[in-house]
Amino acid sequence: MTAVGPHVDRPPRAPGAHPLLGHLKPLLIDPLGLLAVLPHLGDVVELRFGRTPTYVVCSPEAAQHVLRNSDRAFDKGGTFYENVRSMVGDGMATCPLARHKRLRRLAQPAFRSDRMTGYAHTIHAQVDAVISSWRPGQSLDVLPEMRALAARTTFATMFSRRELDAPEIAGLRQAVTAFVEHQTIPRMVAPSLNRLPTARNHRYRESEARLLRFLDGEIAAYRADGTDHGDLMSMFTTSLDSDRLTDAEVRDTVVTVLLGGITTTAVSHAWALHQLSLDPALDAAVAAEAQAAAPLDDSAADAVDRLPLTRGVVAEVLRHRVASWIFPRVAVTDTTIGSRRIPAGAQVLLSPYVLHHRPDLFATPDNFDPHRWDGRDPHRTKGWLPFGAGESKCIGYELAFIELTLSLAHIVRTWRLLPSPAAVRPRPRLHLEPHGLTLRLAERAPH
Ligand code: HEM
Repeated sequence: MTAVGPHVDRPPRAPGAHPLLGHLKPLLIDPLGLLAVLPHLGDVVELRFGRTPTYVVCSPEAAQHVLRNSDRAFDKGGTFYENVRSMVGDGMATCPLARHKRLRRLAQPAFRSDRMTGYAHTIHAQVDAVISSWRPGQSLDVLPEMRALAARTTFATMFSRRELDAPEIAGLRQAVTAFVEHQTIPRMVAPSLNRLPTARNHRYRESEARLLRFLDGEIAAYRADGTDHGDLMSMFTTSLDSDRLTDAEVRDTVVTVLLGGITTTAVSHAWALHQLSLDPALDAAVAAEAQAAAPLDDSAADAVDRLPLTRGVVAEVLRHRVASWIFPRVAVTDTTIGSRRIPAGAQVLLSPYVLHHRPDLFATPDNFDPHRWDGRDPHRTKGWLPFGAGESKCIGYELAFIELTLSLAHIVRTWRLLPSPAAVRPRPRLHLEPHGLTLRLAERAPH
């Protein structure tokens, strides 16, 4: 696809561009509305923001072409990654391809399927710790609560050498929250906002520095200890061959995993609970399945196998309200996507949200229907790309799927979450958040 031949055209441009601001205003006000119209225009559609040509990929074939990147025409870059890099360093998720392969190869063993088995028990314990403080009738601010749960689970799978104390957990959670709250669309478009001497930026830098100090201490302790504790830190620090990660690389990888893993899992979990609260019949069926499948803290794979409907709910949340709704690449050379010309330096936006709402790929895409996954493997479904694809596909995708399925089952078998009085709407920031989601807790009678 790299040869730029005579039958290659510029991608069509989306309507509604302002002569000076291009599509900036709709991007800031209603990004999902802006994206919704694009697949009608073509497989690759141009948006205008400033001087950098920007293209949105709207078909599964075009998305696979860019993400699999067999002609090495695309790399990570652009304002989105510049923004994340300026905040969390240059780890595996953000660094250019030239460094990525080695980091990925060294971190990959930590996410092998056979390592997941022991995580079922860890997930169970963390859900118990969170839900044990819940009371019937309580109103739950769901997203922060799910962030706390995802944070606990990620810390437990990452650091099992010793039990973290309460101030350490609070400090880590605060760093994750500070990161999420800093990730706004204006900062993604103009990362230089992070360099302004504002109180907000200052507070962020302080919390980041605390996080890095904590991680440096833990890395040194894991290195000195040298044993495999069956957790992610052991894999990053001790179980690698001679081409081991340096301390700085471990730190960047851990920050990436902490921030990337916690925030995405938390929003997906919150959306799942929201969807169950809207559909009492589905909620009852998922709860009955969870109660019948107990105990859920044996082998993770076996436990997940006993939860087909819950798995369908998770697959559908990852389709309908996909956390990573958009992420970019930059063209490093003049290239093509299908029959469309892409100039070197252009920003290419991948939007799983766009693909997941195409009616030709997913019938009635705006309906939340977990049964569309009955007997169907989402990982083999064309156009389902919540974890990306190719060499940068989410390294934690199996862990995320297991974590979401098991935690959801643990929660719903004892608690019903009754619907929000306020309207809940998707708020696109770094991830697609359920804005305004509070649910009321009610105890569930056993089936
Ligand atoms: C529902 C949960 C999750 C979603 C939707 C998600 C989504 C994604 C996506 C779309 C990418 C690819 C970005 C790109 O190609 O530019 C990615 C990369 C990554 N994710 Fe996840 N993720 C999730 C959970 C996790 C978890 C639990 C972890 C770790 C514990 C994790 C760690 C990573 C890392 C390290 C990368 C960078 C991989 C690389 O560049 O090679 N993610 N994730």
